[in-house]
Amino acid sequence: MNPQEKRVELEVTDLAFNGKAVAHLNGKVVFLDGGLPGELVEAEIIQSRPRFDQARLLRIVRKSPERMEARCRHFEHCGGCTWQDLDYAQQLRFKRKQVIDCLERLGDQKDVEVREIIGSERLFFYRNKMEFSFDLTADGSFTLGLHRRGCWDEIFDLTECHLQSETSNRLVSCMRSFVASRDIPVYDVRRHTGFMRFLVIRETAHTGQVMVNIVTATGEIPAASELVARLRDEFPEVTTIIHNETDRKSNVATGDSETVLWGPGYIEEQLFQSRFRIRANSFFQTNSRQAERLYRTAFDMLEAGPSDRVLDLYCGTGCIGILLADSVAEVVGVEIVGEAVRAARENAEINGVANINFHENNVKDFLREKPQQPGSIDVVIVDPPRAGLNPRVLKQVASLRPSKLLYISCNPSTFARDTRQLQQYGYHLPAVQPIDMFPHTMHIELVGRFELT
Ligand SMILES: C[S@@+](CC[C@H](N)C(=O)[O-])C[C@H]1O[C@@H](n2cnc3c(N)ncnc32)[C@H](O)[C@@H]1O
Repeated sequence: MNPQEKRVELEVTDLAFNGKAVAHLNGKVVFLDGGLPGELVEAEIIQSRPRFDQARLLRIVRKSPERMEARCRHFEHCGGCTWQDLDYAQQLRFKRKQVIDCLERLGDQKDVEVREIIGSERLFFYRNKMEFSFDLTADGSFTLGLHRRGCWDEIFDLTECHLQSETSNRLVSCMRSFVASRDIPVYDVRRHTGFMRFLVIRETAHTGQVMVNIVTATGEIPAASELVARLRDEFPEVTTIIHNETDRKSNVATGDSETVLWGPGYIEEQLFQSRFRIRANSFFQTNSRQAERLYRTAFDMLEAGPSDRVLDLYCGTGCIGILLADSVAEVVGVEIVGEAVRAARENAEINGVANINFHENNVKDFLREKPQQPGSIDVVIVDPPRAGLNPRVLKQVASLRPSKLLYISCNPSTFARDTRQLQQYGYHLPAVQPIDMFPHTMHIELVGRFELT
């Protein structure tokens, strides 16, 4: 194909699950890195595969009336937001449609009621956690910010982000100038040399506490006491400062060894009437306000009773079990991250919940090592990571024969796959409730209650 032939005019018809725009050319699907449904665009085909093509957007020929002005100056190149330029009502419509598509195509489910998606009241400043990366640049200087769209190893210098508060933007800038002024070496993700790796900021929505977590390679932070003094001086809202060290090559913002540089080493968030302790390396739902709606929806769907025995698998810091414990007989939580289990136990104590126990274990091993009699558990709640349920876990869960199985998912495609499998084991899914936890991004959360047929 010569370069001229690669240039095409396309009508965007849909948005795909991966955030790409969808068009068709000569009966073949084309995925585009931009464009909104209803728009006519000029694009260049950059990759041709047997079943689909990939194209790069060159120019919008006819704009959609639903196109909005993106608020953020980094929108065009930032890997964080995908649809800041699309009217929020349309974002919600497409997210719900993607749930329907996944259930139909991947789950073979045509009769599941997909309820109207619950949108977020806040469209900006809704995140309670952001991870910023350091990156060494070719000229020997460095950047601190977020990933460039589509690039795992390129970080751009962030000057504003509208997903966390203004404090977070100022903290990024302060950290950048401190590292530059002290000439602290920045980690190189390709050669695995250098020191500064991530800046993680956690900020509660309801209690106004802020955690600064500095993740580095192993070793002490140069002039750490000066850094702490500066952060405390400039940011009275910061309530704890933590240093995490790691030797791991994988590009994840967690540490293997933690030092509390200042404050209690945790922050506390309030959900409903309960208080939850959050530590640097433990999971907590990233949008606190929507987390309350997610949990409320889940509990309404579940309709648990006072005699129910509940297994809360992938329990994180224990929020679901602790919030539910009052209305059931007992809860057992299972979580693989030790620090999260520690926080979960503390959380149970802080909230005076006695009928709950937590196990630090891989769910797969827990279910194998502690076999329960079928019928001894009334309710199983699963809230796995994006990969969904491992087939062995799915089989083990189904073999417990809980009368209610509540599945919370952050990935409609693996949820759909697991729905199909659960059906084989006699579990029926009448309805799902999608919830938007992350406006402007492609992420979709959903809850469904399976019933034993
Ligand atoms: C989506 S989070 C759910 C947390 C919790 N339900 C909540 O709402 O706060 C998934 C959790 O599963 C944990 N996890 C991942 N793989 C696991 C495994 N194989 N066994 C146990 N826990 C696991 C993660 O550490 C994380 O805390």
